[in-house]
Amino acid sequence: MEKPAPTLVPIHDLLARRWSARAMDPEAPVTAEEILVLLEAARWAPSCYGEEPWRLVVCDRYRDQASWEAVQACLAEGNRAWARDAPVLILVAAALRFGDGRPNRWAAFDAGAACENLLLQATALGLVAHPMGGFDAEALRRALAVPEGHELLAVVAVGRPGDPGRLPEPLRERELASRRRQPPGSRCFAGRWGQPVEAIYPLPGG
Ligand SMILES: Cc1cc2nc3c(=O)[nH]c(=O)nc-3n(C[C@H](O)[C@H](O)[C@H](O)COP(=O)(O)O)c2cc1C
Repeated sequence: MEKPAPTLVPIHDLLARRWSARAMDPEAPVTAEEILVLLEAARWAPSCYGEEPWRLVVCDRYRDQASWEAVQACLAEGNRAWARDAPVLILVAAALRFGDGRPNRWAAFDAGAACENLLLQATALGLVAHPMGGFDAEALRRALAVPEGHELLAVVAVGRPGDPGRLPEPLRERELASRRRQPPGSRCFAGRWGQPVEAIYPLPGG
């Protein structure tokens, strides 16, 4: 289902079209080629000192059911209610130290950039990609043998768009609800912290 962002000014179509849909077709696998394209998009994200601290683990119901089931079992109940229809679950983690052993305080920032690249590429491919923070990180660490020194940041549910009618309430209602954001000036400042951006850059019609 399409649910483009009602933006205040036009933005790139791909950015406006990306959203965290939950309805997926449980019978429709994601192809190996599509998975490779998603991982390639993530690989070309920027990173501090070019460290590439992101680590992705693809768990595909159609190619390795055991790992997919292991991830499902670690999801929060509210996420399992819809992510059970996602044929692919991708763990996004970050290595917390640079190769030379120094702590990398930008690791999560860089992994987030890689994840957003993946989400946007999925949108371009016509796939659904929905990040989740609701999972038992320690259980998932054990299930996927993630070494210490790596933070488990998100699990991205990936699949093909499905029928919102399959979702249990209240998720169905949320799927159909319009998209919202806080006013720009509450998050973006100009010149100094706290000065709403609109004070310097007036919005059209504002
Ligand atoms: C780090 C992170 C964790 C999230 N965790 C969950 C989650 O556990 N369950 C869920 O349904 N959505 C989750 N989301 C999706 C957000 O709810 C969603 O991105 C936000 O409401 C904005 O909606 P949009 O992505 O459709 O623009 C998460 C998103 C991010 C970036």
